[in-house]
Amino acid sequence: MVLEMNKDFIVTPWEVKGEIDYGKLMAEFGLKPTSGLPAEFEKNALFRRKIVFAHRDFEKILAAHSGKKPFAMMTGLMPSGKFHFGHKLVADQIIFYQKLGARVYLAVADVEAYNSRNPDLAQLRKTAVEEYLTNYAALGLDLSKCDFYFQSNRSSDGRKASAYYALAALLARHATFNEFRAVYGDDITPGKMASALLQASDMLHPQLQEFEGKPIPTVVPVGVDQDPHLRLARDLSTRIKEYSFTQLSSTYHSFLPGLKGGKMSSSDETSYIALTDSAEEAEKKVKKYAFSGGRDTIEEHRKLGGNPGVDVSFQMLKYGLEPDDKKLQSIHDEYKSGKLLSGELKQILIEKITAFLKTHHKKREQAKKTVEKYLEN
Ligand code: TRP
Repeated sequence: MVLEMNKDFIVTPWEVKGEIDYGKLMAEFGLKPTSGLPAEFEKNALFRRKIVFAHRDFEKILAAHSGKKPFAMMTGLMPSGKFHFGHKLVADQIIFYQKLGARVYLAVADVEAYNSRNPDLAQLRKTAVEEYLTNYAALGLDLSKCDFYFQSNRSSDGRKASAYYALAALLARHATFNEFRAVYGDDITPGKMASALLQASDMLHPQLQEFEGKPIPTVVPVGVDQDPHLRLARDLSTRIKEYSFTQLSSTYHSFLPGLKGGKMSSSDETSYIALTDSAEEAEKKVKKYAFSGGRDTIEEHRKLGGNPGVDVSFQMLKYGLEPDDKKLQSIHDEYKSGKLLSGELKQILIEKITAFLKTHHKKREQAKKTVEKYLEN
């Protein structure tokens, strides 16, 4: 099944287009809203503001957390260029789960990238380390308490590596061609099939004897475009009788809009602000590209007010740059009433981004050393 809900928007792992109707997506995919979460989750702005808006089987994680039982968090990244604020959304969740006590697994999907996009393993590796890993560490990920690996090089421990690759190979028997098509569309290739199986193994292998030693609840936080991968892995995990897995849990975040609308994407420099952009570059991009929900003239804006729902500057504040709910609300209300002008809203964002980037760049210098040491071991 190709998941095209209607002509207006498309969300699949290979394409995200149009104005996304998240309610419709949830109904179509059978996802539940994230509501009634315990206090520790509500303290996190991404959960509280419903940016992480839906889940499947998340109850298992909440139960493990409240019962002080072990659980894992597993996710993966496609190393595709500059690390931007859209990627930070995932990093913030990973770090949150690590602090909560989850066992953290992080896969670099270099095999997937090689098979579907960019057959330059050395470049992929460099991007994964310099962009992703370094920024994760600078944002606060404790590398010593995280199992970070490349799909192409699971582990130097042969027992572990075999277990991971064997699982991917054995899952193959239980998948159908139609399921692969749901994950990668009609231009499915053997390489893409292999990657989908490897991703299923990514999600399930923490539960193997060689890793956590037993089946434990595992949450996979992803963008909603990745759901076909999850459905595949969930189905395969129940069909393969040689293993017993605790069914996967997953959460879904909405996409941080790109500066000009659409998705923030590393293939278009004017769609994102990278965490390595200088404060000056970021300021220029906000002024020049950030889509405004304001009116055409000041008179109209004062009279009719702006639309924070589509205003990219407001959205970036909401996705974390303004951590204080009360301040965010008053920015929202003032913009909506017309009291706050687009240029003023952009200025608020620019100040927040500038402050963030300045400290982040210092932390990155420190993180480079940490990463270097981490990779030596
Ligand atoms: N397919 C994911 C992407 O395109 C990357 C990925 C690989 C992944 N393995 C994973 C995501 C395991 C979640 C869990 O970004």
